[in-house]
Amino acid sequence: MSSTFGTLLKVSTFGESHCKGVGAILDGCPPGMRLCEADIQPQLDRRRPGQSKLTTDRQEADPVTIFSGVENGVTLGTPIGLFVPNKDQRPGDYKEMSQIPRPSHADFTYQMKYGIRSSSGGGRSSARETIGRVAAGAVAEKMLAEAFGVEIVAWVSAVSGIRAAAADVRGITRDQVDASLMRCPDPAASQQMESLVIRVKEEKDSVGGIVSCVCRNLPAGWGEPVFEKLEAKLAQAMLSIPATKGFEIGSGFAGTRLRGSAHNDPFRAVENGLGTVTNHSGGIQGGISNGEPIVFRVAFKPPATIGLAQETVDFDGNPVTLEAKGRHDPCVVPRAVSIVETMAALVLGDMALRQQARSQTASFGPGRRSRSV
Ligand SMILES: Cc1cc2nc3c(=O)[nH]c(=O)nc-3n(C[C@H](O)[C@H](O)[C@H](O)COP(=O)(O)O)c2cc1C
Repeated sequence: MSSTFGTLLKVSTFGESHCKGVGAILDGCPPGMRLCEADIQPQLDRRRPGQSKLTTDRQEADPVTIFSGVENGVTLGTPIGLFVPNKDQRPGDYKEMSQIPRPSHADFTYQMKYGIRSSSGGGRSSARETIGRVAAGAVAEKMLAEAFGVEIVAWVSAVSGIRAAAADVRGITRDQVDASLMRCPDPAASQQMESLVIRVKEEKDSVGGIVSCVCRNLPAGWGEPVFEKLEAKLAQAMLSIPATKGFEIGSGFAGTRLRGSAHNDPFRAVENGLGTVTNHSGGIQGGISNGEPIVFRVAFKPPATIGLAQETVDFDGNPVTLEAKGRHDPCVVPRAVSIVETMAALVLGDMALRQQARSQTASFGPGRRSRSV
């Protein structure tokens, strides 16, 4: 199992859905940064279950405790330990499903890989694992904001077939996103999405959606070609989130319909060097940030566990009708917004430290002439 991510800013997460708790160790955060639980809790609150009528009814406050790496409210440069208890578990809800692998969940594959699996709640494949990343990523967000002025904002841009109007990626704020339960900044679309999710929840079914994200104020120069191109690391980070099915950067798949003459981003002179007139590249060229906003989208499937009857087979191959018990998300995207933001922060935080390490070593080249660190 690979539960560690990052090179200089490295996160390791631990915990299953129904054990005593979940969390993370974040190694590599620079010393001297002011940090307390209140810096981390808001992102966990945006992720937590039971936060609204659009999410699962499992109730968890998910209060985070910083166990190590911080003294008198200041980071020491040593590993930061973060812990959140699991409280509202109902293992009984999963009794029936212990013999039946849920279609499109991870029960079958975990059993095949390990020959054993957590008896309830999805274990390590549960979205509770993401608590550790969100807590660690909130620390990375603070580091990026304070050291580099980086801002990261994600929002729900689609639910099922309902699409939000294009957002202003240079101006969108988290307050605008959080103005609706759906976390969609287009009020009309948000209302339609909300009605759909409520209906789907009543019908014991589920729907998918898209989370869009922008990362602003990055300098040109972050990213580690060739195997750790910035978009490749973002894609890895995003596709490691449970229930993700797709990642697009900049013009994405739609860009294939444009000619080069329309798709190219012409350069222009800006205050500290060069910028681009358009941003079909999504802020990354050659795997390296170009100083424009990084813009990407992540597709989330309809959650697998549904109360509607499904014809399937149990682990022995006997036909069964599964009507899943328990409390499940009818649509994960409103909760996934903070997971996308904090995973982006872990990638960018790592790339920032790697570029900083490079910048601090002697250079024999001609030097850089644009907005780089
Ligand atoms: C915020 C969030 C909440 C989720 N809630 C549920 C849920 O209630 N029920 C469910 O079956 N899957 C849920 N999932 C997705 C499963 O964890 C995931 O589909 C499962 O582990 C299989 O992994 P895969 O979809 O990545 O292949 C959720 C995912 C996220 C990101």
